[in-house]
Amino acid sequence: MPEAEIQQTAPPAFDVPRHVAIIMDGNGRWAAARGLPRAEGHRRGVEALRRTIRAAGEIGIKIVTIFSFSAENWSRPASEIGELMGLLRRFVRNDLAELHKSNVRVRIIGERMGLDPDIGRLLIEAEELTKNNDGLILVVAFNYGARQEIVRAVQRVSEEIANGRMTAAGIDMDSITRFLDAPDIPDPDLIIRTSGEQRLSNFLLWQSAYSELVFVPTYWPDFDRATLESAIREYQQRERRFGGLVAQTGS
Ligand code: FPP
Repeated sequence: MPEAEIQQTAPPAFDVPRHVAIIMDGNGRWAAARGLPRAEGHRRGVEALRRTIRAAGEIGIKIVTIFSFSAENWSRPASEIGELMGLLRRFVRNDLAELHKSNVRVRIIGERMGLDPDIGRLLIEAEELTKNNDGLILVVAFNYGARQEIVRAVQRVSEEIANGRMTAAGIDMDSITRFLDAPDIPDPDLIIRTSGEQRLSNFLLWQSAYSELVFVPTYWPDFDRATLESAIREYQQRERRFGGLVAQTGS
């Protein structure tokens, strides 16, 4: 078998990751450990989110993707769903102006159909208001499931074939990527999951093919700049080969 070539496009291992995606887990357990309602855990989770966005910008991360409501979260009790929707409403109403002032560009991924119309409007408002900002990109995965995203992309590819614009034999990886929810956003370099759970839970399955995964025991409401920096240090110790070989010095 020929030696795989070293990918020249891979960022150097010592770099700050360009794109960090976060599974913000453990709000409920954080609250339970303190005898507080789960809703309080989610509210404190929003505070952790504000801290994290600020810290990410300061550290030099260019893109942050957050898993804020999964397609599977609909199976939670109606009261908790209502609380999470309320938090999104308040987040957009209270924080959008500040994000805009900080030059943050908001992008949304996930299924819009089936959401309350006012939520749909808030998501559009967040994207529209910030669309010309060129600072940190905040990708909010809302009503998001990776398998569902891939299914939507495959449906779009099938339509292209049905319309004669593509052939089945012509499908390649780019054909799928092109129809994902944010095709222009580069894949995450680092995915962090808080709370000690070690799985992806239907988050960015296509885009995570070569992401480094870092699992931290911290519950999301306690996440802060120090935790983020320590996850980045762990990432920096990883050797990213993208299926190729390690760069050899002096050979
Ligand atoms: C996981 O904790 C967290 C969520 C399901 C929601 C994450 C949402 C936020 C941090 C705030 C919302 C932010 C926006 C922008 C809407 P969990 O409830 O699964 O915790 P557990 O596993 O301990 O029960």
